[in-house]
Amino acid sequence: MTPVITIDGPSGTGKGTITALVAERLGWHMLDSGAIYRVLGLAAQRRGLALDDEQALTQLAEVLPLSFSAGQVLLDGEDVSEAIRTEEAGAAASRAAAHPPVRAVLLEWQRKMARPPGLVADGRDMGTVVFTQAPLKIFLDASPEIRADRRYKQLKEKGLDANLPRLITDIRERDARDRSRPVAPLCAAEDAVLVDSSRMSIAEVFDRVLEEVRRVFPGLVA
Ligand code: DC
Repeated sequence: MTPVITIDGPSGTGKGTITALVAERLGWHMLDSGAIYRVLGLAAQRRGLALDDEQALTQLAEVLPLSFSAGQVLLDGEDVSEAIRTEEAGAAASRAAAHPPVRAVLLEWQRKMARPPGLVADGRDMGTVVFTQAPLKIFLDASPEIRADRRYKQLKEKGLDANLPRLITDIRERDARDRSRPVAPLCAAEDAVLVDSSRMSIAEVFDRVLEEVRRVFPGLVA
């Protein structure tokens, strides 16, 4: 069986960055499962589908022309890597992801991403639903205020408009929806290692995760 490391948690915890760093250090593949839901939300909006139309979204998920190539996320061959990163796309993803049949369709797709030599999978339910047998599960968390502040700085750096109180409200709303949905809610697996990144730099989180990698996979990294 291909070894899998899962890194779950809410957005703004540095999950994506840590996943990419760990995958690069190990020479393993990576899965950004949030991107799948973001592309689905974007594709639905482009087709004029309502995000609460479960049947239409499920049918769309079944034929979603999504692929990952050289670090890019492609929808029907078009590079949508930037388009899916907006706050609006994140909220649409969270709404699209709340439908159980949609998640069921995307389950196998995600499992097929586990290919040798290994996979580092980032999301909300990687450890609890998609890769329950993963030998190492990390749950990365941080307070909503800190996560909103990080997002605020990112947006400002890109020269984009940002409003901190609004970001805090949006993050709380998205968390509440992701944590309270009946299927695959955002929560730590029982056997996950909890890491609170509120007061840690990315380098410190990376070191902490590598410590766990050394514990679970002796000899894999120096
Ligand atoms: O990680 P992210 O911010 O790119 O995810 C966007 C949304 O997609 C998130 O609010 C909830 C949903 N999602 C999910 O339901 N399950 C996952 N494994 C990953 C993301």
